[in-house]
Amino acid sequence: MTKALPPTRHIVSINDLSNKEIETVFEVAQGFLEELADHHVPYRIARSTDLASKFILASLFYEPSTRTRLSFETAMLRLGGANITSADPAVSSAAKGESLADTIRVIGNYADVVVIRHPRDGAARLAAEYSQIPVINGGDGSHEHPTQTLCDLFTLRAKKKTLKNMKVAISGDLKGSRTIHSFVYALARFGATIDPLPAPGMELPEHVDRRLREEFHSRIVSKVSGASDSGDAGSIDALYVTADQPHQLALIPEPEDYGVIVQKKTDAVYVTRFQKERWAEKERPYPKIDAKFLRDEKYSEASVMHPLPRVNELDVSLDKDRRAIYFQQAAYGVPVRMALISLLLHLHKSQSLHQFPGGFAEPDHSVYVQPIGTGIQCGNANCIVNDPAERQYAANKFYIVEDEARAHCKLRCVYCETDVSEDAASHFTVADTTRKSLAPGLSTLARVPADRLKHLVIYPSESAAVEAGFQPREGGKEGGKKARSG
Ligand code: NCD
Repeated sequence: MTKALPPTRHIVSINDLSNKEIETVFEVAQGFLEELADHHVPYRIARSTDLASKFILASLFYEPSTRTRLSFETAMLRLGGANITSADPAVSSAAKGESLADTIRVIGNYADVVVIRHPRDGAARLAAEYSQIPVINGGDGSHEHPTQTLCDLFTLRAKKKTLKNMKVAISGDLKGSRTIHSFVYALARFGATIDPLPAPGMELPEHVDRRLREEFHSRIVSKVSGASDSGDAGSIDALYVTADQPHQLALIPEPEDYGVIVQKKTDAVYVTRFQKERWAEKERPYPKIDAKFLRDEKYSEASVMHPLPRVNELDVSLDKDRRAIYFQQAAYGVPVRMALISLLLHLHKSQSLHQFPGGFAEPDHSVYVQPIGTGIQCGNANCIVNDPAERQYAANKFYIVEDEARAHCKLRCVYCETDVSEDAASHFTVADTTRKSLAPGLSTLARVPADRLKHLVIYPSESAAVEAGFQPREGGKEGGKKARSG
């Protein structure tokens, strides 16, 4: 009897990997470096193995890429495998209007693992839902870029010998950079202090900030000042301090110690470019990291990192600075991606990804799945569910996230992971399709059992529910609420 294959594992978010699994990826990557690195350049893979000799990687790229695609393909070649590539949507069936949901099902019959990059937030999650082979997210809109984070962490670990208790400054377009979003979740999970140095108006998105605080146990310990008028980096907006284990939360210092944390030396400055392809305006005041910025004593031992490409935000004069490690960071893309591919394909006898399904944070929230074509829409216009080509394949789905006091629920899109705004949610009306009536509102939704949840549809307003054939509440929504509570 043949042994059943482990289920297909997808890496869409950095949170699809547990900390232990991240360590496994790094052990395997380190093993490849020890076995195959250039004798003169220890971070450069120079030789190949035949570990993946019968396997094919598909690169499905709907957005420009140099490092991600080429390092994935190099990784597959160094593993002895082969690549098939669709690097330009203009010459693939996407140009004819083919949906991602269809394309991914086709590719699943050609290749053994697929890496995808797409301009829409949540595209990789949708692809994973339709894929029979492992999907690796190579960057989806401004949502996440988990394998870049693996390279970033591996680089930091190589440099600092640990991932614990680091202090990392993140600079630039914190709002639109997917590399930042995956990176901050991982940093928080390893107990780092995160020092955001955003370009004016480009702070971490509200939902990322909220998740750092609510899910990843970060505490904001300082609000000293905003970005300076000139747009220079250097002033501290807020510091996220996190314990690497929830039970260590008590160890996070009290306000009187905040000064110590603010003064603590920075281990790394992570620079990002202005994501001009994601914003309507093409220029804005933007921090530049240069020798002058790094002269501050607190950066004296800070490694300078950048996912690349850089434009003007990182001075080229730093290339010769002993603290600059961005080209090494890009080189590590090969061993790290070799490790991830080979683990997803189960090519190691003694090492595997430990948990399936779910990794670190398989959310324990229940999920509201809406029938296609009715009810509420994800409010993020760039979410994959709002792509006209995908709409008929992507049901709106939301995690029902309850606050700690269990008094309030919010909805978080399963694909792009942005939260529905309080304002929109305040108009939402829940309808019960079996009882043909309007049900209590969102606040109790998290406690509705799954078998009943599937009969509920959420409409953007009571009038939309009525238009869909439900009886209005007596005296409108407020009247209905009063009737129930009184
Ligand atoms: C990043 C990306 O595509 O998000 N590049 C990369 O993969 N190394 C960063 C960027 O484009 O700014």
